[in-house]
Amino acid sequence: MPLEILGKMYEKANRERYAIGQFNFSNLEFLQSAVEAAEEMKSPVIVALSTGAIKYGGIKNLVALTRTMAEQVSVPVALHLDHGEKLDDIKRCVDAGFTSVMIDGSHHPLEENIALTRQAADYAHSHGGITVEAELGRLGGIEDDIKVDERDARLTDPAEAVRFVKESGCDALAVAVGTSHGAYKFKGENRIDFERIKSIKQLLGIPLVLHGASSVDAESVAQINQYGGKIEGAKGLDAESYTRAIQNGINKVNIDTDLRLKWTAVLRKLIAEKPGEFDPRKFLGPARDAVKEVIKQKMTLLGSAGKA
Ligand code: G3H
Ligand code: 13P
Ligand code: ZN
Repeated sequence: MPLEILGKMYEKANRERYAIGQFNFSNLEFLQSAVEAAEEMKSPVIVALSTGAIKYGGIKNLVALTRTMAEQVSVPVALHLDHGEKLDDIKRCVDAGFTSVMIDGSHHPLEENIALTRQAADYAHSHGGITVEAELGRLGGIEDDIKVDERDARLTDPAEAVRFVKESGCDALAVAVGTSHGAYKFKGENRIDFERIKSIKQLLGIPLVLHGASSVDAESVAQINQYGGKIEGAKGLDAESYTRAIQNGINKVNIDTDLRLKWTAVLRKLIAEKPGEFDPRKFLGPARDAVKEVIKQKMTLLGSAGKA
């Protein structure tokens, strides 16, 4: 299929209360993993590029690859910009063929966030009806290699969200409800404010997005550490948190760290165990297959499997 406008995929997800996974990529293999997983699971899928990923792979290369792969499958694939910060990021991606963009003005004061998001929405909507995600409140963790301090993180205020969506014209809203980007989300139990998701959903009705939603699989972390890595104290979302977040109104769940961890775990082990091997495909192929399995499991967990 040609790349699908994300807004169209959201309609069914919002009506039937499931979430579509966003899987970040910056290379051929992660993209193959996501698109193949979607086809095998009969699931809609969102593949996403950050501005850093675009810089790494080249926008024309990455869009052409995504289009070509999407055309070969029967399930809908949306290409999304993750955490665009400037209006120019939005324009560049809309012009290049993305079918959804995120404008992240969450670090600006409310008025500025509204004004920036409004400009992004006007541009995207008038250029092919491209879907716009915005963010209100602020997640902690790592964003584009910058650490957002816990003190600067702040949860989304439901009343503010109503005004924000009305005045900015965004189609979907990323909410800060206790998750954070990267591998170090919680010290003890998962602490996600499900009631906050519920109130925001009741007031807005539009698709809500959960960022920082990786599970940080303990086995992957252990394997990384066993083969020379050093990742300590990492913790992510448990399966029940996905279910409850979706029941309360989340329709898009962003996952990047889990794919990176699985990838690294497989590569570290293979490189350690095959000292005479130097064909990249012997390493990258199994890593790609393992990432695909992670994505398939997520699609089942999010309820998007069988929905395409
Ligand atoms: O939210 C951040 C994503 O995981 C993208 O990370 O900027 O390192 O590509 P990145
Ligand atoms: P994770 O770091 O939990 O995978 O979150 C990714 C994300 O929110 C991308 O926007
Ligand atoms: Zn994010």
